[in-house]
Amino acid sequence: MNYRRTILITGGAGFIGSHVVRLFVNRYPDYHIINLDKLTYAGNLSNLKDIEDRPNYKFIKADICDYDAVKEVMNKYEVDGIIHLAAESHVDRSILDPFTFARTNVMGTLSLLQAARTVWEPQGWDGKLFYHISTDEVYGALELTDPEGIESPFTTKASSDHHHAYGDKFFTEETRYQPHSPYSASKAGSDHFVRAFHDTYGMPTIVTNCSNNYGPYQFPEKLIPLFINNIMHRKPLPVYGKGENVRDWLYVEDHARAIDLIFHEGKVAETYNIGGFNEWKNIDIVKVLIRTVDRLLSRGEDEDMDLITYVTDRKGHDMRYAIDSRKLQRELGWEPSLQFEEGIEKTVRWYLDHQDWLDNVTSGDYQKYYDQMYKNK
Ligand code: NAD
Ligand code: TYD
Repeated sequence: MNYRRTILITGGAGFIGSHVVRLFVNRYPDYHIINLDKLTYAGNLSNLKDIEDRPNYKFIKADICDYDAVKEVMNKYEVDGIIHLAAESHVDRSILDPFTFARTNVMGTLSLLQAARTVWEPQGWDGKLFYHISTDEVYGALELTDPEGIESPFTTKASSDHHHAYGDKFFTEETRYQPHSPYSASKAGSDHFVRAFHDTYGMPTIVTNCSNNYGPYQFPEKLIPLFINNIMHRKPLPVYGKGENVRDWLYVEDHARAIDLIFHEGKVAETYNIGGFNEWKNIDIVKVLIRTVDRLLSRGEDEDMDLITYVTDRKGHDMRYAIDSRKLQRELGWEPSLQFEEGIEKTVRWYLDHQDWLDNVTSGDYQKYYDQMYKNK
């Protein structure tokens, strides 16, 4: 089949990447979707079981740091668009092992950019796009100027029942980069390289910076899936510090929809912030999770509140993230589709209904999926 476009999605076996791959494979049968992923501990091909046999989908196991391998894929499949999600993504791991983060996030992004440039530059930049997925964490941390929360000046569907803001400042596209963790420093480095490739070589690029995502298929080392799993098994919930830190939460499918919209309608060389004006203190989220799991498992009300265990704070723990996503709303008409409590309910139900997925991930069995399904194909 002659495909209208060929899009290389990196990190498609991870949490957000799997939602993006699924959306594109389903929505664009006339696009060839190539998922390139190294399958680190965070990559789980069984996330894509439902679409793996589609004719317009192809999985390739490769490392983005392997310049020759990436170049070969780009040439062989005539890739004209890249959506780059592959990364090391967990802040706690970056504190323990910063080198791996610099290697994958900085050098890996550079290798991908250089491969794209080598293939695309002689063909001309027309019709090409390198879309880099980044995080709000590159902007550093905001202060908690209103610890009890004020009425937020902005709301979206995501925050319709809880319009708290814990300060009067928000990250805009103009906010100065001030990363604190090795993770955010490595993402900042990658963002700079992407913009440098636009400014120096004229490569058509877009960067988006999104707030914390939650939803199905998230690796249970991150707050929401880890705590859902622990509540189910009545294991302690390690809340860092006082649980006062604030994050701005977005349902992963709303992020995937934003990526689709921006890939197709975003302006080259622009940055867009993505978020739902949906700020929550960690401790309040933990309480919502306990109530939701207990209700869905028909346990007594607040029965599991004593699982909350305050532990030593994360080193350099950023206090507050809050994204101003009005540019994306104004210029491209994007809005989150899901109210937060609905999204949390949906998410908790998904993990309760997919205990096998969680067990596979926690036992390590998911790493055998590639060998079983792909190795001899
Ligand atoms: P994830 O850790 O769940 O998945 C990362 C994927 O990248 C995995 O499939 C892994 O195997 C793959 N990968 C890692 N190193 C690789 C390499 N060297 N070569 C090829 N593949 C490699 O991450 P996620 O939470 O889905 O995040 C995806 C992207 O979105 C990241 O760039 C992250 O910085 C960004 N982001 C995440 C969030 C969030 O809340 N999770 C928020 C904003 C932005
Ligand atoms: P996380 O899901 O790791 O995302 P990020 O650090 O990228 O925002 O953590 C979300 C918040 O939850 C963050 O403030 C750290 C906190 N947290 C805990 O309190 N306990 C935990 O076990 C984890 C994983 C996170």
